[in-house]
Amino acid sequence: MEIKIFDTYEQMGQFAADIIEETMKSKDKPILGFATGATPISTYNALIEKYREGKISFKSVTSFNLDEYCTIDRDDKNSYYTFMHENLFNHVDIDEKNVNVPCGNPENVVEYCKGYDNSIEKMGGVDVQILGIGRNGHIGFNEPSDSFTMGTYKVELTQSTIEANKIYFPNEDAMPRQAITMGIGTIMKAKKIILLANGESKAHAIHDMVKGDVSPKCPASVLQNHPNVVVILDKAAASLL
Ligand code: PGA
Repeated sequence: MEIKIFDTYEQMGQFAADIIEETMKSKDKPILGFATGATPISTYNALIEKYREGKISFKSVTSFNLDEYCTIDRDDKNSYYTFMHENLFNHVDIDEKNVNVPCGNPENVVEYCKGYDNSIEKMGGVDVQILGIGRNGHIGFNEPSDSFTMGTYKVELTQSTIEANKIYFPNEDAMPRQAITMGIGTIMKAKKIILLANGESKAHAIHDMVKGDVSPKCPASVLQNHPNVVVILDKAAASLL
């Protein structure tokens, strides 16, 4: 794992966007893996800026998002489909037909999830996957558990995740309790991974990810076994390293 520590959240986003720009320029048809949440917003702002300056185009990009809530519609203001459009896709020249955000409410969950993984593989795999990290060490919505998950699947969210994300919903009861998420196996197939974390609330998870044993109790620790990971932190998130 390569670890980079920055003074500001904006610098973190700029650095991540520079790596993504490099990947986009090195491929005819880049496959980008996107994450939602507060963390990647400065990265998306930096990518939008690069697009406006004419440095990058998303015309030939295919995107795959990590996860989506169950029970809410994709047009709901709190869906990750909406998040990605508001924070990135609506501001760049990506072709909507190349946008993939998991469906939160598929008719046949098992078949749908298998199909999502197959689509990624058919495209040749994710070139660069962006990740945030939960306070409990989750990546995507892979919550701490007794074993590492493989492909995309439907997950029960833990109380820690509900606590962290309920602020986006009118009240705790409105927050979905389940999600469709890429599995750990899906994430680990990405050729390159950028994990971002800022703020003191992430310091324990970052410590366990980097210094702890590789264990499904801290799902992000599996990244110790990936050959190409850049961890981008601010000083507060890095404070326990
Ligand atoms: P956050 O979420 O970026 O909103 O902190 C990260 C995550 O839960 O993976």
